[in-house]
Amino acid sequence: STGYITYDPGFVNTGSCSSAITYIDGDAGILRYRGYPIEQLAERSSFLEVSYLLIYGNLPTQAQLDDFTQKINRHTLLHEDLKRFFDGFPRDAHPMPVLSSAVSALSTFYQDSLNPFDEPNVELSTVRLLAKVPTLAAYAYKKSIGQPFLYPDNSLGLVENFLRMTFGLPAEPYEVDPEVAKALDLLFILHADHEQNCSTSTVRLVGSSEANLFASISAGIMALFGPLHGGANSAVLEMLNGIKADGGDVANFVSRVKNKEKGVRLMGFGHRVYKNYDPRAKIIKRTADQILGKLAPNDELLDIAKRLEETALSDDYFIERKLYPNVDFYTGLIYRALGFPTQFFTVLFALGRLPGWIAHWREMINDPQTKIGRPRQIYIGEKEREYTAISER
Ligand code: SDX
Repeated sequence: STGYITYDPGFVNTGSCSSAITYIDGDAGILRYRGYPIEQLAERSSFLEVSYLLIYGNLPTQAQLDDFTQKINRHTLLHEDLKRFFDGFPRDAHPMPVLSSAVSALSTFYQDSLNPFDEPNVELSTVRLLAKVPTLAAYAYKKSIGQPFLYPDNSLGLVENFLRMTFGLPAEPYEVDPEVAKALDLLFILHADHEQNCSTSTVRLVGSSEANLFASISAGIMALFGPLHGGANSAVLEMLNGIKADGGDVANFVSRVKNKEKGVRLMGFGHRVYKNYDPRAKIIKRTADQILGKLAPNDELLDIAKRLEETALSDDYFIERKLYPNVDFYTGLIYRALGFPTQFFTVLFALGRLPGWIAHWREMINDPQTKIGRPRQIYIGEKEREYTAISER
């Protein structure tokens, strides 16, 4: 009771919804996309195939995958006017607000095909976003380093094209390292969806007002920007660099966390749902060993991360609170080894999560039960009172 009303917690809108896209069992550490275990998809699928699975509900036949790939390839180019959009940002702008604004701006080029209830429009918007957001992300990076934008090369796959537009230069040929492309493709698969997380719930809530797909995705990007959500992968790198600067003293850092020193958290640990090891983190840790073993042997930060994990997993403070590594703990180390700056890690999370956001928006907009999102509240403010003239206050 709040002193005004007594409420039945069951009555308060829990904001939950039903969905057929992703299943998580937080205690058992299970994650499945449309029923397929993440371990099998990570091992045998590709990011584009997983995107198709999340959005359309089943694994594609070869013909369906070829058609999907070909459609996306034909939409990777941006309108020339949109490229000038990037001129308006300062060079040191964080790429997440740039990406969110650019996705919103993208919709202004398609005013005649944004109707959320017109199936061909939704299909076209789906393909346009999957194809163009990697181009926008690459251009946000080029803008930040003052290098020229590269046009997409559609003889490449989606991930290879993104890597080339990000790291290539017009002055010389750029060969995509297949190992790098494979590692990034895997990380995108692992980030592709995760049930009703903060950013996906944002996409569903904004879309529930019948806002178009671009507007809803733009909002999801900004929700992901938060340090407790998608910003955690960058925060992990900052944390590891801080420990390195302190002579690699993991024990000292852990005691600062346990003393709850202001602003000191074990970033990349803990989860709202997983009270066990995040199944994605296990796969990412193996990938970190492989990629760093090749691209950055004897990486000191990887060694610190492993000692930090070992210390936390054997410490009652973390065990009692069921704090285990989550998807973000090792991801940043791989992104860094692939050549991305720390500020860009959350953009990579957004590129991975994009098909999941689209799948959830489409599921929500087609659900006849969907009403505009309108959570209720428990009022805990002042009782009724009379207005007084300012001379009497
Ligand atoms: C993602 O929802 C999703 O699915 C998200 C995601 C996805 O794929 O979309 O999985 C991606 O966002 C992963 C999470 C990335 N964030 C971080 O790594 C930031 C660090 N983690 C935390 O801030 C925290 O663990 C949360 C926010 C992720 C989850 O917090 P909970 O489950 O709500 O836990 P809580 O805040 O209620 O804390 C419970 C206790 C508290 O201690 P006491 O008050 O009981 O003494 O655990 C402590 C907290 O202080 N705690 C931590 C901690 N996380 C929780 N202590 C130190 N370090 C941490 N990371």
